[in-house]
Order: sequence, then structure tokens, then C-alpha cells
Amino acid sequence: MNDTMPRSRIEEKLSKHKEDLMGESVSKIMEFNKRPIEIKEYLDQYIIGQDEGKKVLATAIAFHYKRLGTAMKKEIETNGGDIAKALKNIETPKANIMLIGPSGVGKTYTSEIASDIIGVPFVKQDMTKFSETGYVGQNVTDILIDLYVSADENPFLAQTGIVYLDEIDKISGSAVVGRDVSGKGVQNGLLKIVEGQENRVGDAGLMLSTKNVLFIASGAFEGVERVVENRLRRQKVEQKRNWKSYLSTEDLVDYGMERQLMGRFPVKVVYDQLTSRNLFDIMKTCKKSPLHSYQSDFKAWDIDLQIEDDALSEIARFAEVEGTGARGLTGILNKVLLEEMYTLPGSYQGELKIGKDYVTRRLQNE
Ligand SMILES: Nc1ncnc2c1ncn2[C@@H]1O[C@H](COP(=O)(O)OP(=O)(O)OP(=O)(O)O)[C@@H](O)[C@H]1O
Ligand SMILES: [Mg+2]
Repeated sequence: MNDTMPRSRIEEKLSKHKEDLMGESVSKIMEFNKRPIEIKEYLDQYIIGQDEGKKVLATAIAFHYKRLGTAMKKEIETNGGDIAKALKNIETPKANIMLIGPSGVGKTYTSEIASDIIGVPFVKQDMTKFSETGYVGQNVTDILIDLYVSADENPFLAQTGIVYLDEIDKISGSAVVGRDVSGKGVQNGLLKIVEGQENRVGDAGLMLSTKNVLFIASGAFEGVERVVENRLRRQKVEQKRNWKSYLSTEDLVDYGMERQLMGRFPVKVVYDQLTSRNLFDIMKTCKKSPLHSYQSDFKAWDIDLQIEDDALSEIARFAEVEGTGARGLTGILNKVLLEEMYTLPGSYQGELKIGKDYVTRRLQNE
């Protein structure tokens, strides 16, 4: 205990410090000035391919935070600096985002990195949870608590975060078949949360709302291309490009999503399946590559791991066939390197070169 300063004084200082920090992180949003191109360039360092996805996401996010920041600033200037009140009063149209595409191709990853650039909390919610219970009340509380915790208990920042709704296709009309639970009911519950719902968080009576939260939904929507193509045929539209550029709200409604809910996700983008070239580049060039993680793991044992390019191509081809996107790479690398990881630490130091033939043998269990 500090005897030159009474405890109450220390607490007062701490709480003042906390308040300053809170104000600071909110002013970051009010001064938000990142250009879409800048955000995309940052995303490029981490995410390979998905050019359209990165472009659409970077633009939507930049516009959302610029709009929100500008509205908050204006409100605060006229209300004497009350952030909580400003968040309550502003009415900004939200353009939530829908990401469609196969597993492991960067949908969650892009969203997470984008939230890092903006400096807002990012929380992920699995929609299968909604379809199991069908009960929404607890879910909105969960979302708000997650935001609050991930914002370091800053209530202002929490209410301007990003919520990622994973596997949204699992609550489509056809997907939900449970007792007392219909896809429609679950989707209407979610609609309320997306539009903005206020709930008490914790015992202290803190009220938080999802009104200014940006929602990014994602799902594989398996078979949606047939829905799009059937519609084009029905409407006698000559299909000149890939189905992806024709995808509309109508198709997601046909798929079993509620029209009103889909109307809240006006920004849509379809992510591509990763090619073996993409998978090669993910290992070779991107920041936080799974190969680099293995290299630094080996480095810690003074082993310098080098995998030759044609060996990497072989791994990439294998991952492509496996079809789990970039998520498969870590497992495949692990399979290739297992023997070395087991035997070499402590018994060998120096260079470890892995060639193509070795990779092929390991992957064929020889
Ligand atoms: N395009 C990419 N570039 C670089 N890394 C990627 C890419 N796609 C995926 N990854 C890597 O794979 C991991 C899994 O990707 P992510 O979580 O984004 O998949 P997803 O598209 O959300 O799939 P799911 O629908 O299964 O959740 C990421 O954490 C990242 O390490
Ligand atoms: Mg994901």
C-alpha cells in the first residue's frame, strides 16, 4: 500500500485513467479516416486471392465507420461530450455484409483482420447455436457480453464493434427442423438483434445495444448457384458471367432466408474456392503463414527448416484436393513433418531440407 497517497485517491486516478482511455478509443472512431484502398492493401498482406471479397469488405467497412464516426462527432459537439447519449441518439443506416463461400477460404479471417485495422472489437457467434435453442433472449446477452469483454470493458467501444454471424445458412427455413423451432422464428429473432436491441449486461445495470454494431454474416449456402441459375433461366436473362455476379437477395430468399433479414445485409460477396496456386502463396508469402509458424517452431530447436518450392506445390495440390481450403495446410504440414518434429529436437541442429519426393511419400503414408 502506498502511504503517501490514500487508497481512494489511487482509485480515483485509476478510474480517471480508464475514462481517458475509453474516450481515446472512441475518438479513434470519430476521427476515422482510412480509405477503402488503404484497408484493402493491408488485407492483401494477410489474405491471398479473394480480390473481390477484400475490395467489397474494405469499402463497406470504411464507409460504415466513417458514417458512424461523423454522426457521433456531430452529436457529441452538440450534447456537451456525452458519448453514451450520442451512441443512443444517432441514427445511421447500416450496410451489414453477407459473405458467401466454401470453408477455409478466408471469410472469417478477412473480417477479423479488418476489425484489427479499425481498432474495434470483433466477436464471432455460431448461428447453429440459435437453431438449437430457437430462443433469442440469451443470445443477444451473449453477444453484448462478448463485445464488452473484447472491448476491454469499454462500453462505448463495445457498442461500435463487429459481430460475425457464422453459418447463417444453418438457420434457413429448410435447415432448421427441430421441436418448436422454425427457421422463420429464429431468423426473426436475429432480425431484432441486427436492427438493434438493448440489454442489461452484468449486475451493475449497464445497458448495451447492438444498434451501431456492424454485422457480417457468412455461410456456405451450398447449392445456391443452382438457385441463381434457375432464376436467370426463368427470367430469360442471358448469363454472360459467372453466377456469382448475379446473386441477389431474391436468391437467398428462395434458399430459405427471410426477406426482411436479408434486406438488412445489402452488401453481398461470394468468396472463391482457393486454387493450388493460392495455397502455395499462402505458405510462401503471406504474413502469418502456416509454413512460417513451423519454421519458427523448428528455429526454437536451432533447426533451420527449408521446404523446396516444388515440395510446397505438392502440399498445395494435396490441400486443394482435400477441399478444406487453407485450413487444411497446417494439418498437411504436420503430417509431412511429424517424424522430424518427433526425432530431431535436441538431437540435431542445422539445416533441414524437405524435397518433393519426400512430401509425396509422407502424404501417401509410405
Ligand atoms: N485467402 C487466404 N489467405 C491466407 N490465409 C487464409 C486464406 N483463407 C484462409 N486462410 C487461413 O485459414 C484459416 C481459416 O480461414 P477462415 O477462418 O477465414 O475460413 P472461412 O472462410 O471463414 O471458413 P468457414 O466457413 O469454414 O468458417 C485462417 O485463419 C487463415 O489462417
Ligand atoms: Mg469462418
